[in-house]
Amino acid sequence: MKRIAVLTGGGDAPGLNAVIRAVVKTAILVYDCEVLGVQDGFDGFLTPGGVFPLDLAAVRGILPRGGTILGTANRGNPFARKVVRDGREVIEDVSDQVVDAIHALGLDALIVIGGDGTLHIALELGAKGVPVVGVPKTIDNDVGGTEVTFGFDTALTIATEAFDRLHTTAEAHHRVMVLELMGRDAGFIALHAGMAGGADVILIPEIPFRYEAVVAKVRERNQRGSRFSLLSVAEGAKPQGGEAVYARSGDAVYVPRLGGIGQQVGQYIEQQGFETRVTVLGHLQRGGSPTAFDRWLATRYGAAAVRTAAAGRFGRMVALRDAKVVDIPLEEALAVPKRVDVHGDAVQTARGLGISFGDE
Ligand code: F6P
Repeated sequence: MKRIAVLTGGGDAPGLNAVIRAVVKTAILVYDCEVLGVQDGFDGFLTPGGVFPLDLAAVRGILPRGGTILGTANRGNPFARKVVRDGREVIEDVSDQVVDAIHALGLDALIVIGGDGTLHIALELGAKGVPVVGVPKTIDNDVGGTEVTFGFDTALTIATEAFDRLHTTAEAHHRVMVLELMGRDAGFIALHAGMAGGADVILIPEIPFRYEAVVAKVRERNQRGSRFSLLSVAEGAKPQGGEAVYARSGDAVYVPRLGGIGQQVGQYIEQQGFETRVTVLGHLQRGGSPTAFDRWLATRYGAAAVRTAAAGRFGRMVALRDAKVVDIPLEEALAVPKRVDVHGDAVQTARGLGISFGDE
């Protein structure tokens, strides 16, 4: 293995820089291999100057830094890229240009750090002969095949701190506090932070809720003398028989942007006579320094990805299983996206503690 490249794709997550650092250090120090960085996801292969050398100096000091020194893009799918032709926006498949650029660079491996969407692109490029190894990233923790993605622990920690802060002001004013958290299709952040932060109601995409059941919980607490309530609401939560709430519609390149369910739930509760405030934590969950756990996991993932490439094991993704970092086929990881197990011990424990999921 003489020359590898690394890129970050999709929404950022705390720990991306820790993976990049581990990739560069392991490739250079263990395999004496040259490393190239690709700017802004797969777009870098199509942009002049978009691929550049990464040496040890380039990754110095980046371990605790959020974001990604390589830049990222969540509309950079080379199989469906928005381009302007004769003044009109059209969608084109430019994947062959990306493949040609990769071959022209003489890459022995391409390490792709991304979530579900980016890893699907990696799988498709793998089918076109690109030697890819994936690293699972996302604060939502919704990539299959691995116990956890890096970035999740940091988001969870920030969300839990938000609950701690909301708790005191909720209690002081006898209010209902709704915290809308990220989680498009999977409610892991809302579930884990809700449990860690003492929420009374947790609404997640996997368990459609009834408004009346949510208010019933708030009312029950009031009657017992707890004159405040905390609600943990995933942005992708939806009422039974209803739809998720979107702030912006999508198109062939952009996925629709979720947002607004917290406000809807808050309004409903207020209409039933309980003073309510709504907080949307948003991208605070994605920005800033990774937790120790995420730095530790990201570093192990990055180093393992290089070892996987050096062993010639392509079309694979590093994953955490039984607390060990292993590599599994990308196809297997992407076959079934990870979702909260609605019958698992976490949900069972929450219900046992009197937390409502708004479904009963
Ligand atoms: O996939 C991670 C995620 O944080 C989702 O929970 C959220 O819907 C999405 O990213 C928002 O991404 P962006 O604001 O970058 O479009």
